[in-house]
Amino acid sequence: MSASVLLVTGGAGFIGTNFVRAAVARGERVVVVDRLNYAAQEGNLAGLGAQVRLVARDLAAPGDDLVRLLVETRPRTIVHTAAETHVDRSIHDPEAFVASNLLGTFRLLEAARAYLAGLGEEERRRFRFLHVSTDEVYGARAPEDPPNREGDPYEPTSPYAATKAGSDHLARAWHKTYGLPVLVTNCTNNYGPYQHPEKFLPLMIYQALRGRPLPVYGDGRQVRDWLYVDDHVRALFRVLEGGTPGGTYHVSAGLGPTNLEVLELLCAILDRLRPRPEGSYRALVRHVADRPAHDRRYALESTRLQHELGWRPEESLAGGLEKTVRWYLSHEEWWCRATGEDFHRWLAAHYDAELVR
Ligand code: DAU
Repeated sequence: MSASVLLVTGGAGFIGTNFVRAAVARGERVVVVDRLNYAAQEGNLAGLGAQVRLVARDLAAPGDDLVRLLVETRPRTIVHTAAETHVDRSIHDPEAFVASNLLGTFRLLEAARAYLAGLGEEERRRFRFLHVSTDEVYGARAPEDPPNREGDPYEPTSPYAATKAGSDHLARAWHKTYGLPVLVTNCTNNYGPYQHPEKFLPLMIYQALRGRPLPVYGDGRQVRDWLYVDDHVRALFRVLEGGTPGGTYHVSAGLGPTNLEVLELLCAILDRLRPRPEGSYRALVRHVADRPAHDRRYALESTRLQHELGWRPEESLAGGLEKTVRWYLSHEEWWCRATGEDFHRWLAAHYDAELVR
């Protein structure tokens, strides 16, 4: 493989898969490093042929093989999407998040540093390390607060958010201390194809199609800024092409619906595409105990990305949700693989029995 390769960590997970598929469509060759845990599927990369090479590896594990892989494949870019990402799981098992998000990022940064040291001047000048992160690092915004801007202080709440915040700090420190050409993006809630059904929207689709209750935490008035995953992927390419090393770029749609409003839209789409003999899916909504320390609202301003790099979100919430529902309805085999033993164990441990009977 030549120096035009992209190396994508977590490339068999949700955002990673969507990024790799878009990269292949652009003619790129991609090396995916993924530990293939419960949220990733090798099959997500099926059909991409010789343009993609998958290496099954846990980034948190020690070993020189990571540097050797970089030297052998000579990526011009590393896109780091690999992370443990489910807030609820981070409350049950925070150690897995420390290992993956902190130690895994640390080892990858160190491997990138060693690789960069051996590159010629031109390759070193072109090299980029894109660290893909989240709005959750800022913690909750009050209803009257303006959206977070790049450079605002971090106030993470959950173990997930705290480990992502730590990984952002590591990435920036490797830029400042060692000159690694790091770019950081923080994005709002994504949705779309290939998202694991533990997350809000695919979980609601999964439950709805089985006629089971739709578990809404607390009063359901929490606010998220939902972005269709393709818009996020386009933003990542923009940042790679034009972002300034050391820079941080927010990615957001600028929306603020409550969870109940999003669920209402989702039910209306399901009612249209897969009507239920018993009546609307809305009747399945159940308010359940709230998530501990549940952040009430996230909001990011993405004007830097819009003004400096010309990115705009293209998908509306209604349009993106419809695409998402259609994808899930037509990918039954994907569901079957994603909802195996581990998923049922998770549901049983986390939700009341009558919700997941
Ligand atoms: O904001 C970006 C973040 O969005 C990402 O960094 C995280 O990886 C991703 O998991 C997501 O975090 P959230 O906690 O916002 O996503 P989740 O899909 O778990 O929940 C979305 C909202 O829906 C949140 O307010 C909690 C609520 N919810 C979630 C589940 C799973 C429910 O009401 N019921 C549920 O069963």
